[in-house]
This record gives sequence, structure tokens and C-alpha cells, in this order.
Amino acid sequence: MGQVTLRGVSKRYGAVEAVRNFDLEVLDREFLVLLGPSGCGKSTVLRIIAGLEEPDQGTVAIGDRFVNDLEPKDRDIAMVFQNYALYPHMTVQRNIDFPLKCRGMPKPDRDGLVAEAAESLGLTPLLDRRPAQLSGGQRQRVALARAIVRRPEVFLMDEPLSNLDAKLRVQTRTELIELQRRLATTVVYVTHDQIEGMTMANRLAVMNEGALVQVAPPSEVYAHPASLFVARFIGNPPMNTVTGTPARVDGELGIETSGGTIPLTAAQRQAVEASGAAIVAVGIRPERIVIGGTGPLPATVAVVESLGSEHHVICRLADDQEVVVRLGTDIPVPKEGPTVRLGFESEYLHLFDAGTGDRIGP
Ligand SMILES: Nc1ncnc2c1ncn2[C@@H]1O[C@H](COP(=O)(O)OP(=O)(O)O)[C@@H](O)[C@H]1O
Ligand SMILES: [Mg+2]
Repeated sequence: MGQVTLRGVSKRYGAVEAVRNFDLEVLDREFLVLLGPSGCGKSTVLRIIAGLEEPDQGTVAIGDRFVNDLEPKDRDIAMVFQNYALYPHMTVQRNIDFPLKCRGMPKPDRDGLVAEAAESLGLTPLLDRRPAQLSGGQRQRVALARAIVRRPEVFLMDEPLSNLDAKLRVQTRTELIELQRRLATTVVYVTHDQIEGMTMANRLAVMNEGALVQVAPPSEVYAHPASLFVARFIGNPPMNTVTGTPARVDGELGIETSGGTIPLTAAQRQAVEASGAAIVAVGIRPERIVIGGTGPLPATVAVVESLGSEHHVICRLADDQEVVVRLGTDIPVPKEGPTVRLGFESEYLHLFDAGTGDRIGP
């Protein structure tokens, strides 16, 4: 079984706490994406699972074994990096064969496995070439073939697509998902790219500054971000946030901003009161805002960006806070300059304690 379990794992490099008290359970056959900004500790977590780095504290288990004391080669994992690390003097055939040969497997057995791995990645016509005679995408596929040829329980991938151009990245993304389903293995996949995370993951594990901040399916992370950090990190354009203070207007609790008071649902009013937050960050996704009508926030239309499939309308509130509205192409584009009103359903608001960044309410 290919589950991976980290318990209380910490790792420090001098003054830098690269990984802080990490508890994570990757399920058997799951595609788990470790997502976070550059420098937040993703590679360190992956290297600890691989055994390339020793944790200061905590335990690592793969399947039903604790592996803290096992060498990387004994952990039944394969790792794929951003730079493919192929042997330049070897053919594709010999590159893929290398891990099997190292393990002393007899040649007839190896040939069958290499042929199968090459076939599953469309590399059969390229077996006699050397890495220099391949495109970037083909090289990355050779690196993948070399990883799958041993049929490990767990694949660890560290930003494996970041050296590919945009189009190839999208194509290889799909291939990787199909490969993982076909092989029915566990994948722990590291990326700083939220689109990759959203599209590939069964579950996302979002990291910030060495700590795990939310582990959930992508749709859940998008719909219910656990903190202000997650809210702003996931989504493009990012979630808008407007800060204000809880205040009663006509006896009913709302969030008072310098541009207007934002009404809340009954559940939100209760949650804000229970939280005791002094300043609340109100989050609203760009696609949840309507322009015009009787919305609570007056704003001027600063810039309209047309992307072909959608429009991004950048608005400015009275106090200069910026709000981006995403409109479909079936909706008329507002003119730049005039004052409009921004409206939304309160149930689509995300509330956070601006002091701690924690989510308020459901
Ligand atoms: N071998 C090392 N020596 C010193 N600092 C390191 C080392 N490896 C990583 N770090 C630091 O630990 C933090 C996390 O690094 P890393 O795990 O590579 O982040 P990520 O993969 O998310 O970009 C960073 O601040 C990085 O500079
Ligand atoms: Mg990294």
C-alpha cells in the first residue's frame, strides 16, 4: 500500500524553520499536490519523504513501515525533478533501463519492463536517441519513464513541468494524470502553480512559511479557504478583499468600510460576533460581483481588460481599495471612468479576522 504519513515533522536550517510541525496523511493511490509560494518548504517536505533530508523531529511512514532509518533506495519511491537529470551519454533505452540495471535485474526481464514504460509514454520510436536529440517535453517523458519502470509504490515529483513551455505544460499535465490513473500509484506532487494544483490534485495541501494551512479537495479549498492567505493564493484573478469593522446599522450587524456598509447573512452575523474580530477582511471572488443596480459599494471603473473569453473590470472604491470584477463576454462591458455600484449576494462573501487571517464562520 502506498500511503505516506508524516507526524510532527520539523526541519530547520540555521535560523530558517523550513518545515514546522507537519502532520500529513497521503492516501493510497491519491494524487496529492503540495502547493505554496516559492521558499515555503515544499521541496524540503518531499526530500524528507524521499530520505534525501533528515527531519529534526517527527516520523515518516510509507505504506505500513516507518522509514526514518531507511536509505532512499530502500523506500520504494521514485522521484522526478524539474531538471530531468538524464545521463547525456546514454540512449533513451539505457536511461530508462538504468535503475533496473543498478538493482541487478537480469537483462531479459529488464527489456520487457523498459519496453512497457517507453510504450506507455510514447517513447518507443525514440529509444535509440540520446537526450541532446530530444525536445524538452520528450526529455521529461524519459525522466518519467525512468521513474515508473521500477513500479514504485510512491512517486515524488518536484515541479516536474516548470521547464516546459506553456502549451506543453498543459499537455503533459493531462498525460501525467492519465499515467497516474493507469498505474494506480500514489503521487506527491510539488508545485507553486495554483492552476496545476487545482487541475491535477485529488487533494491540495496548501503550505505557507513551513506550515500546512489547509488540506482538502481543490473545489473545497476554492469555496472555503481556511485563511486569508489561502483565499488570496488560490484563484485568478485573486479574491478581492475589503477591510472594515463590524458595526450595527439599523440594529443589524454589517461590515462598515469607508466606501459603504456590507450586509451579512444571519449565520455570518453570528460568526462575526462569536469571533470577536476587531477588523474583518471581507473576501469576494471576481466572478461573484455584479456591476450596476443597487449594490452597497460605490466604485469608479478604472480599467477594463478584455481577454477574449472574459473581461476583467478593475474598479476603485472611495478609499482607493481596488476590486476586480470578472465578467463573461455576454455581459456588456462598462465604460471606463463613471461611478457604478458593486453588488453581490452576502452568502458568497468570505470573512476573515484581519488580525489573525483565520476564516470566520462556515
Ligand atoms: N540546504 C539548505 N540549507 C539552508 N537553507 C535551506 C536549504 N534548503 C532549503 N533551505 C531554506 O528552507 C526554506 C524552504 O526551502 P524549500 O523547501 O526549497 O522551499 P520550496 O521548495 O517551497 O521553494 C527556504 O527558506 C530555503 O532557503
Ligand atoms: Mg522547491
